[in-house]
Amino acid sequence: MNKKTVTLNYRSDGPALELPVLEGTEGPKAFDVTSVYRDTGMFTFDPGFMATASCRSAITFIDGEKGILRYRGYPIEQLAEQSTYLEVAYLLFYGDLPTAAQLEEFEYIIGHHTMINESLKMFYSGFRYNAHPMATMVGVVGSLSAFYHDSLNIHDPRHQEISAHRLIAKMPTIAAASYKRHKGEPFIYPNNSLSYTANFMNMMFATPCEEFEPDPVAAKALDLLFILHADHEQNASTSTVRIAGSSGANPFACIAAGIASLWGPAHGGANEAVLNMLNQIGDPSNVDKYIAKAKDKDDPFRLMGFGHRVYKNYDPRARIIRKVCHDVLENVADANNPLFELALKLEEIALKDDYFVEHRLYPNVDFYSGIIYQALGIPMNMFTVMFAIARTAGWVAHWMEMIGDSKQRIARPRQLYEGPPERQYVPLEKR
Ligand code: CMC
Repeated sequence: MNKKTVTLNYRSDGPALELPVLEGTEGPKAFDVTSVYRDTGMFTFDPGFMATASCRSAITFIDGEKGILRYRGYPIEQLAEQSTYLEVAYLLFYGDLPTAAQLEEFEYIIGHHTMINESLKMFYSGFRYNAHPMATMVGVVGSLSAFYHDSLNIHDPRHQEISAHRLIAKMPTIAAASYKRHKGEPFIYPNNSLSYTANFMNMMFATPCEEFEPDPVAAKALDLLFILHADHEQNASTSTVRIAGSSGANPFACIAAGIASLWGPAHGGANEAVLNMLNQIGDPSNVDKYIAKAKDKDDPFRLMGFGHRVYKNYDPRARIIRKVCHDVLENVADANNPLFELALKLEEIALKDDYFVEHRLYPNVDFYSGIIYQALGIPMNMFTVMFAIARTAGWVAHWMEMIGDSKQRIARPRQLYEGPPERQYVPLEKR
């Protein structure tokens, strides 16, 4: 193998296959298999994309071995310490950190797109009173395409941008309204004098008869969680957004598809699943029993909030969140939160356990986020919605990057067919 190609000897009597090697700025190289089917008549097989780079991207870099996460080159630790969610959204969309004037303008624009069309509110009444807020999110976000015919030309950069602004701005409003619908309370309008997260908390917790004073520590903690969840390269929901968008679908429909994918317990639904699990474990004295269940191959129980397809080291986001968890519990809620104590104990035992060490299973971003959300008064069925609000920045950035790629084609994987060979139709009366 020289620097530019890799040689595959796939059959002893035939010619070897020369495949170009592609190099990014950092991370593993990739060999380009796009010619393999043409040259050999065979497909490559990689269910779950275990060894496949599905696109080129300049947005987020992860080194799972070293536990590194960077947005547009900036380490997540620096962004978590010094930035805000809206600044990070700007960075993800436009590629560079904004100047003070650019950030001010961006915040103004986002602030002035937070309202949703009055008739969209009627859409909510179609949902059963106890609908899961994620079910409502999938429907309502998808329905935005019915409201913004003025900006659905996906090839017009101005239309792309205004859709991006609308999505970032309206997501908290739509999310809070999903919760209010679930609770049977009237919707609260956005308040542009508040920060992005304080405004969201106000729409969640204020009522027309009682004002709500968003706690600045809580709003800051939420902003930090949003930064940590803003993007994570080609995860299931982001890949879903890209695949949906590859056919030319509009961004609102694509983001709705991303929300649907995020909902699953192996992805964004894990934060809700962690709290369910901690409640199920109940007491530190039961930890050993549940660790044993997680290791038992005949038991479907898994330690939720542990393990990651990419991180084979401590998830850098989990490290930051663990600290925020301490801060929030000390400053906002009861410092002796029993679930946090239980989570710490579970982590301590799992990190020493041979099975978890050998399988390189570490706490992921969702292990502690649910405990923080709970301390902030956010109900459990809204946890994945919180993830969806934050990840919208990443989804939109990836959608824009994909649309702007001149080599982009419709995503159309192939398959290894395992069904019956050709057989003849038998008329009903003869079966
Ligand atoms: N508890 C117990 N065993 C586990 C766990 C776990 N949480 N995660 C993986 N394993 C074992 C698994 O049984 C398998 O063992 P073996 O090789 O002996 O059969 C091995 O580790 C590899 O697991 P896998 O399921 O093949 O790995 P994957 O990369 O396909 O799955 C994962 C990654 C995140 C879906 C998985 O670790 C998991 O289900 N974790 C719990 C759910 C969770 O916390 N999800 C949130 C992920 S982070 C946020 C996000 O990206 O949305």
